[in-house]
Amino acid sequence: MKGQKLYEEAKKIIPGAVQLFSKRAELFLPRLWPSYYSRAKGCRIWDLDGNSYLDFSLMGVGTAVLGYARKEVDESVIKAIRKGNLTTLNAPEEVELAKKLIELHPWAEMVRFAKTGGEAMAIAVRIARAKTGKDIVLFCGYHGWHDWYLSANLLGKDSLKEHLLEGLNPLGVPKVLAGTAFPFKYNDVETLKTLASKYKKDIACIVMESIRNVQPTKEFIDTVHEIRETLRVPLVVDEISAGFRLTVGGAHKVLGINPDIAVFGKAMSNGYPMSAVIGKSWVMDAAQETFISSTYWTERSGLVASLETINLFQKKEVHRHLISVGRRIKNIWKKSAEKYGIEIAISGIDPIANFIFNTDDPLLWKTVFTQLMLEKGFLASTLCFSSYAHRNRHIKLYKSAVEETFYEMSKKHPKEILKTEVCHKTFQRLT
Ligand SMILES: Cc1ncc(COP(=O)(O)O)c(C=O)c1O
Repeated sequence: MKGQKLYEEAKKIIPGAVQLFSKRAELFLPRLWPSYYSRAKGCRIWDLDGNSYLDFSLMGVGTAVLGYARKEVDESVIKAIRKGNLTTLNAPEEVELAKKLIELHPWAEMVRFAKTGGEAMAIAVRIARAKTGKDIVLFCGYHGWHDWYLSANLLGKDSLKEHLLEGLNPLGVPKVLAGTAFPFKYNDVETLKTLASKYKKDIACIVMESIRNVQPTKEFIDTVHEIRETLRVPLVVDEISAGFRLTVGGAHKVLGINPDIAVFGKAMSNGYPMSAVIGKSWVMDAAQETFISSTYWTERSGLVASLETINLFQKKEVHRHLISVGRRIKNIWKKSAEKYGIEIAISGIDPIANFIFNTDDPLLWKTVFTQLMLEKGFLASTLCFSSYAHRNRHIKLYKSAVEETFYEMSKKHPKEILKTEVCHKTFQRLT
């Protein structure tokens, strides 16, 4: 298997083998995951051996909302880069995209751009700290790899456990940052209130994902708004995963959350590097006072891809499709599990549906699910990002494959089916 051979080579010269933790083979199917692709189109991916799979897993880690190699987006990019992708002068599309994002979010007045989600969040936190002159960030959810965020684990090794990724080691993060970022759980009103009253004089901002796995309660949103107003600090809403999936723009628009800053990445540009920090001018203006600047933030392909992607979102109401696909996928899991007596618990917003096996060894079951689905021609895990490229015919094929897989898992204990090691759950060294 060429992919695994290359992956083994990568481990020797690329620490951790990949650039994004979620793309490690060990998180899916150790030693058997195809790992590398040669090409991709729609929701189909070809590996290095020429095998093709329907992707019902990460869909480019949530970027391929319109599908891989979406014609209109790629053609706009190719046209633009033929005219020069980065020059001494700026790309005019910067202003066009800024206007478009403000049009979609009329509460926002200013925009800064970056390329990745994590750095855009670091920009947002820097702006908030610059504006307030304070250091402490109260946050919930996952926001990337930067020092401001990982510093939460300097106090308790697993402060971040409840926020998507477990076991993140803050090694290399200056210890003096301990006590500058404190997590609270989504909907956990009491912890948020306690933190706000304990650190009120030093709080720079409140940071939260608009939504991840569960719906926000009204009490939670009201409390976040109240604290923001009492402390006069900006509310930063991270839309990197949820944005452009429940509506055209931030999920906060449909959830009744009123941010001062919102941050976008992933879905906004269908696979081209692009992220954005949008916000009210009273806080965004502080970006003039602190130094936030980078050469490749000025390149053109991400801007053009984003304009075309948003154009298609608006024209085709892509979010409606994403929601409907997610609902169907959840239903397939539910019905198949019921049919074969397998205990699962389903959650997530519809376009980012996920489930866990409520069994003796959930990770073993998850690995075997991936193994059996791979054998049927699917990249599949217990998490599925919906895409506009998931059409009826693909969903029907997926349904049959899931049914058959659950049937097989009901007949034999997964231990007897597993052909490799059980997948990893947490961040850890690769050997
Ligand atoms: C909510 C949220 N914030 C931030 C990030 C980090 O984005 P990136 O991986 O582009 O740095 C992610 C990535 O999954 C995310 O889901």
